[in-house]
Amino acid sequence: ALDLTYAKQVRPWLELAEDLRVLSLDSTLAVPQICVMGDQSSGKSSVLEALSGVPFPRGSGLVTRCPVRLVMRRSEAPGKAWSAVASIESSPHTITADSPEELTSIISRLTDSVTRNSNGFSREAIIVRLTSDQAPDLTVVDLPGIVRTTMAGQEAMVIDEINAMLGEYLSQERTIILAVIPANQDIATVDILERALRVDPEGERTLGVLTKPDLVGPGNEEEVVAVLTNVRKPLKLGYVMVKNRSQAQIKQGITYDEARADEARFFASHGVFSRIDSRLLGTERLTASLTTLLVARIQEELAPMKRQVEMMLARVRTELRDIASFGVAATPGDRQKLLVTLAQEFIRHLNDCVRGEYRDRI
Ligand code: GDP
Ligand code: MG
Ligand code: NA
Repeated sequence: ALDLTYAKQVRPWLELAEDLRVLSLDSTLAVPQICVMGDQSSGKSSVLEALSGVPFPRGSGLVTRCPVRLVMRRSEAPGKAWSAVASIESSPHTITADSPEELTSIISRLTDSVTRNSNGFSREAIIVRLTSDQAPDLTVVDLPGIVRTTMAGQEAMVIDEINAMLGEYLSQERTIILAVIPANQDIATVDILERALRVDPEGERTLGVLTKPDLVGPGNEEEVVAVLTNVRKPLKLGYVMVKNRSQAQIKQGITYDEARADEARFFASHGVFSRIDSRLLGTERLTASLTTLLVARIQEELAPMKRQVEMMLARVRTELRDIASFGVAATPGDRQKLLVTLAQEFIRHLNDCVRGEYRDRI
């Protein structure tokens, strides 16, 4: 059953962040967010599936070819029908999905439409708003993986474009980096961790997610434990390990619930991993950590964001005065006035959103 106290603590903050993002049309104001990043086929979409219950389009190669912002809300009434709408960032047109499977195919279609062809990539995001009685209150962004080699039909330029876009998301200081790392791979060779540590040396906004624990070879478990327990490659936010559906399990058609049960069984019965602190294991744990992290981040960043908006407003006012004193034609002035109005609206909205018990925190 839904814990209403919990929903009340979490939801207003997530709604506020979403509203601010929508208002910050030209993205001059960075809003806290969680971005799923990793090397190609590291298990990013699988992690997103585990968090949301939506079977995200997956496979080998570059399946995720544009950012997908997944806004999840838990429905108040248990058993209330599952619902989701998807749209492209720049368009008000939304498509309603009646089932998770339908949503998957809608995401694929929208991906093709924003990328024009099946090998391209786009900076424009797909927005998915999902409500279900199993979903967490959480917003996450799925991003294309770090690409090292082009596939047939792909231009080398696509690699540079994707890596440049990932660089922008990574260096944004209000972004929590969810670094997806296959546990069966030598951590020293994982690109995403290296790139994250370049922009976040202490790991203050990087959370490591180890995937594919079932593929760790015998004798390599201790190495994985050293990473998971923050001994090797330590991150301030630490690591969580999850087990998702393998390709074979997807083919067999095992369901979401079966996959979660399989994950629990796997960790409980594993010779080495069953001895690890259970707070570091499993999707449920990951979801809880992410929600706490995101809400804390939004709360911490509200005051700095407000100061930033006020500075932007002051700058626009000065510019407007300068323009007025030069007697320049109405058009650019009108544009500036519009900006002032927008900025004021922005601040008013910020204040409205955090009235009452939250007001004293900003
Ligand atoms: P992405 O490219 O990073 O989005 O990776 P995907 O989520 O598409 O996963 C790549 C492949 O790894 C798929 O075949 C998944 O089924 C498989 N995979 C992901 N997580 C796990 C896991 O925990 N265990 C196993 N055995 N396979 C996994
Ligand atoms: Mg993917
Ligand atoms: Na570590």
